[in-house]
Amino acid sequence: MTGYFITAIGTGVGKTFFTAALTHQLREKNKPVRTVKPIISGYDDAHHDSSDTGILMQASGEVNREEISPWRYAAPLSPHLAAAMEDRPIDPFALVKWFQHRIVPDTTTLIEGVGGIMVPITPDYTVLDWMRALGVPVVLVAGTYLGAINHTLLSIEQLVRHGLVIHAVIISQSAHEDCGIEATAQAIAPWISRHTQIIHLPRICSWQSAPNLLSLMDEQ
Ligand SMILES: Nc1ncnc2c1ncn2[C@@H]1O[C@H](COP(=O)(O)OP(=O)(O)OP(=O)(O)O)[C@@H](O)[C@H]1O
Ligand SMILES: [Mg+2]
Repeated sequence: MTGYFITAIGTGVGKTFFTAALTHQLREKNKPVRTVKPIISGYDDAHHDSSDTGILMQASGEVNREEISPWRYAAPLSPHLAAAMEDRPIDPFALVKWFQHRIVPDTTTLIEGVGGIMVPITPDYTVLDWMRALGVPVVLVAGTYLGAINHTLLSIEQLVRHGLVIHAVIISQSAHEDCGIEATAQAIAPWISRHTQIIHLPRICSWQSAPNLLSLMDEQ
């Protein structure tokens, strides 16, 4: 199986947008793909369709939300806080097992994280720990807002320090304070391995109309 963990330099940068676009493009080419977002906070049944879970269900064709996001929490907070409010803490062991049971041979598996790299899932277990336990290559979604280069380089340093493989950096153009995709890419390039792809994702009206992202799959 080919798996990618989609993380980001922060929340609201474009993880779901990118993951939905890649899922859509793989399906259009009849490539088997499984897409999950196991933890979601700020989830409201009344707005399911516009939630990450709903968007990834639409992109993947999955009809059972339990198969996309089994850990759903109402409060729009860090998962460790949202889970505490509902007295339903996340068991890291169960979280890792859940994903491992969904790995299917010859299928690309995309897993969207939650927020950025150091987001707590429990008070002493972060997204970084989760990524290390899964051991799949990481796709880092970055933005172009003022400050994004700093956030991107901090994220890259942390990933590299902990031995995670950065398969690609996706530069998803931000809506505000846009410093430009090209300038952002140039600033990041000296700090990543030559094996890491940089993919440009301009500001577009919908994930269905994203430029071709399948070059991500080339170097395997
Ligand atoms: N390249 C882009 N073009 C147009 N809109 C985008 C792009 N990237 C992200 N967006 C929009 O920005 C908003 C935030 O993106 P998205 O929900 O994908 O972020 P996220 O990293 O998944 O956030 P979260 O941490 O909440 O999961 C969404 O409304 C999304 O449609
Ligand atoms: Mg998201």
